[in-house]
Amino acid sequence: MSEQAPVASKESRAQLTQMLVIGAIASILGIALALLIDWFPVPASEQAGPIDTLWDVLLIASVPVFVLVETIVLYSAIKFRMRPGEELKDGPPIHGNTKLEIVWTAIPAILLVALCTYAYVVLVDIEEEATASETLNVRVVGEQFTWTFFYEGEGGDEIASPQLYLPQNTPVDFTVQSKDVIHDFWVPAFRMKIDAVPGIDTHLRVTTTDRMGEFPVVCAELCGLGHALMRQTANVVTPDEFTAWMDKQLQPEQPAEGGGEGGAPADGKTLFTQGNGQSTACGACHTLADAGTSGSSGPDLDASLQGRDAEYIERGIVEPDAEIAQGYNPGIMPKNYGQTLSPEELDALVSYLEEASGG
Ligand code: CUA
Repeated sequence: MSEQAPVASKESRAQLTQMLVIGAIASILGIALALLIDWFPVPASEQAGPIDTLWDVLLIASVPVFVLVETIVLYSAIKFRMRPGEELKDGPPIHGNTKLEIVWTAIPAILLVALCTYAYVVLVDIEEEATASETLNVRVVGEQFTWTFFYEGEGGDEIASPQLYLPQNTPVDFTVQSKDVIHDFWVPAFRMKIDAVPGIDTHLRVTTTDRMGEFPVVCAELCGLGHALMRQTANVVTPDEFTAWMDKQLQPEQPAEGGGEGGAPADGKTLFTQGNGQSTACGACHTLADAGTSGSSGPDLDASLQGRDAEYIERGIVEPDAEIAQGYNPGIMPKNYGQTLSPEELDALVSYLEEASGG
């Protein structure tokens, strides 16, 4: 027995070297693969840079740990497997290995503390960055199942918009609220996200960059049947375009031709395809040939409104759950059209739908 020991240790040392080499190659390949994958959409905020770097560092740190654990598991499963005739044998008794235990406690502890410290520094850094002057304040309100964005208008008035518009290179402070359940405001291109919690104001700071374009706004918290439909657009535009857009929002609606009564007469078709700034556009979810929409989240109105009267159509808008078309679920259509549409708008929408669906 004692003569065999040096031979076995030489053999295991060779195996250890072999494992280290294989592990190192696997780690390098794994890191290369992990870094090659495009995990996120194009970055459109200043916060995206440090967050993407943090992500890469976490990948680089995780791959060797994964490889180490898997190598030991595979090696042990092959080397110490039960061979025929060994069914009743017990393994050698083990009484621990102090040196090994200190090493496998200390290394992960150091690694974790280092990564947590780094992540904390990044978090503090990105939250500080946007507190500079010239901050644009936007109030974001989530509800089942839409987002509404409120901008500071003149004289304390707020401008409501169903789409998010932001100028380039501007720090933005979002105050995020919810009307009903917990939602989560997320623009993947900005990397930042935060819960919208009823009764609480949460804050999110983002600084836009030079990059212009349309970026999806999504809800990242399961909030009901329409959760997946809670998608809008963040438009990052030039400062001039932003000012022009704001001016347009500030102007009272232009009265359409022939609308005599003084108030802005509502156009049913426009309401259907675009909403009114507070209500979501019907056409986003419903198909209607006359309006040229093809949404499929809600019933096809060409079919379901055929031969229906104004009363039925109005009830379908104001109390969407009163009667549910076959194959659809209650609770998906927002229940607030009675509040977000003025009585005139509701009338215009109902008569347009009655006409367009041949009711
Ligand atoms: Cu709102 Cu999910």
